[in-house]
Amino acid sequence: MPFRTRLTERLGIAHPILLAPMAFVAGGRLAAAVSAAGGLGLIGGGYGEAAWLEREFDAAEGARVGCGFITWSLARQPQLLARVLARKPAAVMLSFGDPRPFAADIRKAGAALICQVQTRGQALEAIEAGADIVIAQGAEAGGHGAARATLPFVPAVIDLARERAPGVAVVAAGGIADGRGLAASLALGADGVLMGTRFFASEESRGDPRAKAMIVAASGEETVRTSTVDVVRALDWPEMFTARVMRNDFVDAWHGAEPRLRAALESEMRRYQTAIEKADFSIAAVFAGEAIGLIERVLPAREIVVRTIAEAEAALARAAPR
Ligand SMILES: Cc1cc2nc3c(=O)[nH]c(=O)nc-3n(C[C@H](O)[C@H](O)[C@H](O)COP(=O)(O)O)c2cc1C
Repeated sequence: MPFRTRLTERLGIAHPILLAPMAFVAGGRLAAAVSAAGGLGLIGGGYGEAAWLEREFDAAEGARVGCGFITWSLARQPQLLARVLARKPAAVMLSFGDPRPFAADIRKAGAALICQVQTRGQALEAIEAGADIVIAQGAEAGGHGAARATLPFVPAVIDLARERAPGVAVVAAGGIADGRGLAASLALGADGVLMGTRFFASEESRGDPRAKAMIVAASGEETVRTSTVDVVRALDWPEMFTARVMRNDFVDAWHGAEPRLRAALESEMRRYQTAIEKADFSIAAVFAGEAIGLIERVLPAREIVVRTIAEAEAALARAAPR
């Protein structure tokens, strides 16, 4: 029996699974593969580079996909939104900033508005903006996020949405990498899941093969939320957001010593940039969440979707009263 939820209904998809719009990692090929498997793939618009976006929409080869932006960065180059809307995305996801200035254009273009939130206040803002789908993201998530844990945060957002806007779909994110996570999210009352880290370690992702191998090899203890990677990239993220990355020599040296890192910024920036170019992950960060501990193999995206659904069905059957 397929899972039918507000999410599958609103997006017209077979399975309640979204690909997170991971900057530099979720390209058009991966997004198209997730959509072809019955979920919805979101291209990672990230900080917003027009040429990258055009190339990745081309790589999706006309598949029905969406796109996600880092909202505070989009606000600095709002013209990018029109370029993406011209590609007729099924959905546009906004994270990390006020969605309200962009909401009307997204809805007018016929795309679903997805807002990823990390606090109750942001959930209210998303509902006020007219979001069709609110992603409640817990701190377990890979990449940028905040402090709330997935398990208590998701039902809090569900309660809020049911009270204020019952038609809005609420989706769980952060630490979900298999069918047990999907089953747990559905049991909490969520309409589906958004997965990032699991799809990073897919065949179609644009992640570096060595980074994928590190994800497969690592356990869940080997990540940390830190601002070091933003300091060294000179990205002025709002203070409440940190990034969950895999621990490495760079993070171990500077995490908790950010003032010293700022003092040594010039040389550390050069060293970090060189490490990115060489894919030296002892210095450059692999953005990934606690779910790395659940990932044992790089798989085709289709298989990740199919397995997740089958495992969720089995998990819910196991949990059912006898
Ligand atoms: C490599 C990576 C890059 C990410 N980049 C973005 C991004 O550009 N925009 C965004 O909204 N979220 C981004 N995220 C966070 C995801 O949207 C999502 O919340 C997260 O992946 C969910 O947790 P999980 O990684 O445990 O599945 C990123 C996550 C990862 C792992």
